Amino acid sequence: MPESPRVAVVRPFRTEDRAAVRRICHVTGFMGEPADWYWSDEESFADMWTGYYTDREPESAFVGEIGGRVVGYLLGCVDSRKAWNPADVGRRHSFHRGLPFRPGTAGMIWRAGRDFVSDVAHRSGTVRGPFLDSRWPAHLHIDILREGRGSGLGRALIDTWMERLRSLQSPGCHLETLAENAKARAFFTTMGFETFGDPAFLPGARARDGSRLHNLVMVRSVHP
Ligand SMILES: CC(C)(COP(=O)(O)OP(=O)(O)OC[C@H]1O[C@@H](n2cnc3c(N)ncnc32)[C@H](O)[C@@H]1OP(=O)(O)O)[C@@H](O)C(=O)NCCC(=O)NCCS
Repeated sequence: MPESPRVAVVRPFRTEDRAAVRRICHVTGFMGEPADWYWSDEESFADMWTGYYTDREPESAFVGEIGGRVVGYLLGCVDSRKAWNPADVGRRHSFHRGLPFRPGTAGMIWRAGRDFVSDVAHRSGTVRGPFLDSRWPAHLHIDILREGRGSGLGRALIDTWMERLRSLQSPGCHLETLAENAKARAFFTTMGFETFGDPAFLPGARARDGSRLHNLVMVRSVHP
């Protein structure tokens, strides 16, 4: 018998999805590839990038399932002023768990500090904190395992999120991505997001060849 197509289904996040979401965050954390080569500590990585959304605003989180297995998520925040700053979460982990002195995290942490000081000294555009603008008060993070990509799941997750924002009468949504993540940029453009402002250096972030990476803000109005 021919195998039936594996259809992705979007549904609201449930507490029992938390571990899968955290795992997916770490294995897709470098432009869709595993993040462990620059940040080996999954616990702190997941806390920085998913903790607020799963633990404080789970009603804005959605997952994509294939055959009953969670393969991706969209984590949303309606009012970005309320979200935890990932840098603050990282600093808390650093203090309590000694991350600046562990081999899998020390490089990134010290490099980020050096980059930031150098960027400010040279007046280079650098990221100083999360993007906040009342025209696009909401934001999102979206990540899908390789097996779930390219079959409409990303679109379905974004549509579900925009529908929620519409029902809450939010004016708009932004996101931050790496400017070098060409596939994600193309996807977000297809989904109606536009680039806002210039890319800025992201302190500490490097490509595998050692070159610096840039943060890019993209925005989309909720009501056309
Ligand atoms: C980016 C990502 C969320 C997109 O999800 P997806 O399920 O692969 O995308 P979809 O299949 O739903 O595609 C939706 C639309 O975007 C378009 N699109 C997706 N990827 C594209 C690409 N690389 N280039 C051009 N268009 C693209 C599709 O053609 C499709 O258009 P259509 O609906 O008009 O036919 C997913 O690939 C992913 O998780 N990638 C790795 C993690 C990542 O980079 N996350 C973003 C970090 S900010």
